[in-house]
This record gives sequence, C-alpha cells and structure tokens, in this order.
Amino acid sequence: MSNRELEEKAWDSLEKSIIYHQGQPVGTIAASDPDIAALNYDQCFVRDFISSGLLFLIRGKADIVRNFLEATLKLQPKTTQLDCLKPSRGLMPASFKIQSFNGHEYLKADFGDHAIGRVAPADACLWWIILLRAYVISTEDKALVQRDDFQEGIRLILELCLVNRFDMYPMMLVPDGATMIDRRMGLYGHPIEIQSLFFSALRASLDLLLPNPQNEPMLRAIQSRLRPLRMQLRDNYWLDSERLNVIYRYRVEEYGEEVLNQFNLYSDSIPFYWLAKWLPEAGGYLAGNLGPSQLDCRFFALGNLMAIMGSLTDESQSQRILNLIELRWSDLVGQMPMKVCYPALEDKEWRTITGADPKNRPWSYHNGGSWPVLLWMLAAAARKMERAELAYHAIAVAERRLLADQWPEYYDGPDGRLIGKEARKNQTWTIAGYLLAKEFIADSRHLKLVTFEGEI
Ligand code: GLC
Repeated sequence: MSNRELEEKAWDSLEKSIIYHQGQPVGTIAASDPDIAALNYDQCFVRDFISSGLLFLIRGKADIVRNFLEATLKLQPKTTQLDCLKPSRGLMPASFKIQSFNGHEYLKADFGDHAIGRVAPADACLWWIILLRAYVISTEDKALVQRDDFQEGIRLILELCLVNRFDMYPMMLVPDGATMIDRRMGLYGHPIEIQSLFFSALRASLDLLLPNPQNEPMLRAIQSRLRPLRMQLRDNYWLDSERLNVIYRYRVEEYGEEVLNQFNLYSDSIPFYWLAKWLPEAGGYLAGNLGPSQLDCRFFALGNLMAIMGSLTDESQSQRILNLIELRWSDLVGQMPMKVCYPALEDKEWRTITGADPKNRPWSYHNGGSWPVLLWMLAAAARKMERAELAYHAIAVAERRLLADQWPEYYDGPDGRLIGKEARKNQTWTIAGYLLAKEFIADSRHLKLVTFEGEI
C-alpha cells in the first residue's frame, strides 16, 4: 500500500471517531475497539483530542476545534466549591460523553471522579490553553478568545495553577496519575510531564489574555513565575555528564538559602553506574521528577519533547535531548516510536511504586511501553531543531506496522515489538498522531501551532 493510501485510510478512521452534540462535531472518542469493553474509551478525552484538534486545524476543519473549546469551557466549574467531593473551580475535565435525558442531549464530564483510581487530570487545563492558542494562530479568529467567557476560563485555570499553595517552588504541585500517565507511577509532586506543559501554557496565556485591569494581576503572576520556573527546570532537572559529576559530589544536610544541594539529594539514590553507561557524552535530558531528596532519573518523552517545543530547554539542551534519542534509538524508539518512559520499573520498585499494578508491569503500558501518539511530538521537536532526519526515520518505523496492527493504543516489550497486552485497537490519538507527524514534516510552517520561539 502506498503512503498516500495509508494516510487516506487513517483519515477515514479519524473521521469515524468524531462525536456530535446537537448535530455539531464536538470531539473524538478515545478508541473504538469492538473486541474490548469500552469502559470510558467511548468518551472524548481532553488530552487525547489535542492530537486530533491540531490536525483538524491544519486540515482547515476549525469548526470542530472551536466547538470542542466552547463545550469544554462550559463544563469548567466557575464557582468556588464548598463540597470537597465536587471538582474545583477552574478544573477542566479529563473526558466527557454525550448523554440524553427526557429527549434532551447534554454533555457529562468526568473530572477524575469516575476514573479508575480517581485520578485528577491536571494536564487537561494546560492542554486546553495550548490548543486555544493553536486555534487563534491557525484561524486568526481573535474574537473567540477575547470573549468574556474565554478570558474568564483562562483566568480560572491560572488561578488553580498559580495561586495559594503549600510549597514555594516555581513548579506546579500535582498528585500521582495527573497526566497522560494516569495510574500510579511515582509522578506525584513535580513531574516533568506537567512542568513542560505548565511552561507552555503560561507562555500561551501571555498571548491570550487581554491586557486589561481584570487580567493585570494574573499577567503579573505569570511573568513572575516564568523565569524562575525555566531556571529551576534548566538547572536542577537537567542531567548530562557534567551535571552527574556535580550531583555525585554534592554535600548533604546543608541549611540556609544559598546552598548548592537545595533538594538535599543523596548520592546513593542516583543510579550513577547505570547512567554513566547509558547517557552518551553528547546527550542529556530533563529528569522525570524533582523534590525533597528525590531526583527521578527516568527519561519521560512527553516532558522532554514538549520542553523542546516550548523553548523551555536552551538550544544546546534541546539538541542534546535529540542526540540522546538518536544515540539510544534502540532503547527509546526501537520497533515503535516511542517509549513513554525509560527504563521500566522492575521487581521491588514496580511493586512499591506502582502498587504492583499488573497493567503497568515492566515494559508494558505506562511502565516502559511505547506510545505511537508521541510520534507527533518527536516529529515537531526534531523538525524545530532542524533534525528532520530523526522524524523521517521514526515515521518510517511506525508506518511499517500501525495500519496492519489496526492503530494500537500502545506497544509492549523493551523494544516495543509486541502490541500492548490490553491495548485498544483503533485508538484515535494513534491515528491522529501519525497524520500530524506527517503534516509537521510536510510543511514546517505548521510548527507555529505548537512551538514557542525565543527566551522569555
Ligand atoms: C488511558 C491513558 C490516558 C488516555 C486514556 C484515553 O487512560 O493512560 O492517557 O487519555 O487512556 O485514551
């Protein structure tokens, strides 16, 4: 089959995933696999729709994106909740579905209150802002974002992310399972998966919020957060040979404002010998998580690729992340782009950190599985840094299998050779992610929908 036919088939499947509300397209379902119980995969997930939404914008179908943005905005709680069991003001749902009551059709949201493990979707509101910016860039329709309800929606999200908290780090504090990795995987606290999205969403908000007295305090809050956030992530999350040397010789138990080892990291908690072998001299990446006596040295793809897109990492760091992917291709890409995280948690670590989750056994699902949706992020990041050859290569690897395997949700095994044990087929963001990667490669002008240029 030619690549053109493959793309046509993918597009047909994507169109079939569209859901309609009162006759209007409003989102896409997560997957349609006739052989596995739908659970909530027949719903539209906010994070999953981003891939479809960006593709629809590129293909001139902005209506569905506009409808999605409006519909999800209406689902966002606008008043302070006294009932602690209700979603907080400003939160965006993880997913929604269309329901009917007495002949009236309405949208029912899941804020994590129905989700397996009751996990909160902290990424949804950040993605929502990123998609809104892409909509404005693509359509040049500024009227939508300037509407009072949209300005209020952005402000409420930012209030939730920026205001009143316990810690005094510039990072955003979230519970476990608050990202695309929505099961317990040791991502509570300050996971890179959230911080990269947070940084891009803050940058996007600067473009989207009108400079008026109502927005002024929020604009100031964003401006005062962005630089410290960038510095913290660039300095203290960054891992390369040089940084490993510094961390290896850190002093501990230091007290005071000016100490070097701010987080009191203990050398013995860092897998130096593994890293010394695995991390190439020309490579580097942002660590998975940082907190008191904690530096999670796993590589997480979304956080690192989004960091490149958002110019959170500097030029040299971005190139080093891509060097790492290139030089550790068989680990990070292998038979299917690409690993959601690397390496997998095994044995005792798997037991304690995942809660012995059988779906997340080593090299499966979130625990070292391979997720084709990440292909578009790899393509965009590589293209931005003028490393398109990496994107071509990854797309060629994915193309060999995706259609024949019926667009699986994820793949298993250290090299991503096996179709995921419980993977859904016809997973929408797998399909959209593939098509989107092709669009970024075909025309780099589309990159402006997801990238940010220059220092902030
Ligand atoms: C799984 C994934 C999550 C995704 C959802 C729908 O729960 O972990 O990231 O949004 O499926 O595809």
